[in-house]
Amino acid sequence: MEMGSQETQPIMSSSPPGRISLRPMTLSDVDDYMVWATDPKVARFCTWEPCTSRDEAIKYITDRVLTHPWLRAICLEDDRPIGYILIMAVDDIRKEIGYVLARKYWGKGFATEAVRLVTAEIFKEFPEIERVEALVDVDNVGSQKVLEKVGFTREGVMRKFLYIKGSVRDTVMFSFLPTDTMK
Ligand SMILES: CC(C)(COP(=O)(O)OP(=O)(O)OC[C@H]1O[C@@H](n2cnc3c(N)ncnc32)[C@H](O)[C@@H]1OP(=O)(O)O)[C@@H](O)C(=O)NCCC(=O)NCCS
Repeated sequence: MEMGSQETQPIMSSSPPGRISLRPMTLSDVDDYMVWATDPKVARFCTWEPCTSRDEAIKYITDRVLTHPWLRAICLEDDRPIGYILIMAVDDIRKEIGYVLARKYWGKGFATEAVRLVTAEIFKEFPEIERVEALVDVDNVGSQKVLEKVGFTREGVMRKFLYIKGSVRDTVMFSFLPTDTMK
């Protein structure tokens, strides 16, 4: 099954405790997007470089976010994005999950809540999927904790796997199967 475009995807409300909601991003989210996209500490373990101008952010949102097959803004009650979460197709039976949050909101459980919500949604929306994967830098402790809290299995370290900020990094492979128990 092909993933639908963002425009055709429903807004997803979170399950209790319901502190976050997920919705497609729009160009009007550019200022909130810049809060995390310009932050080198947020980008540290990501393959992308921090954004350096509003024009660059508008271009990125237009070219890469609005056209992304499955990317949702993570919003609080005021409907303003504090980050995003996305799904990428690996092949016909596997999808990879990725997420990012503005630094001000780290450590409050929002990423854990978003990953829980989206992992469940993947198996509902794409019943052919046998496995959800997440690839995390060995030093990205926060992201590894998020996945472990949701119930992903840490499968092992893939040596010299991802090129990040000028060096080739060891990467932890996490997975979640439809038969796994979500915590
Ligand atoms: C990774 C990231 C999404 C985690 O988001 P978060 O909302 O802080 O995660 P949570 O609050 O759900 O935290 C889950 C656990 O990790 C812990 N944690 C978060 N950041 C941590 C860090 N840097 N070091 C150690 N523990 C950390 C939290 O305290 C929490 O543990 P607890 O429940 O025992 O208190 C966020 O730090 C981020 O956006 N980082 C930059 C982008 C990124 O690395 N994305 C992931 C790429 S794989």
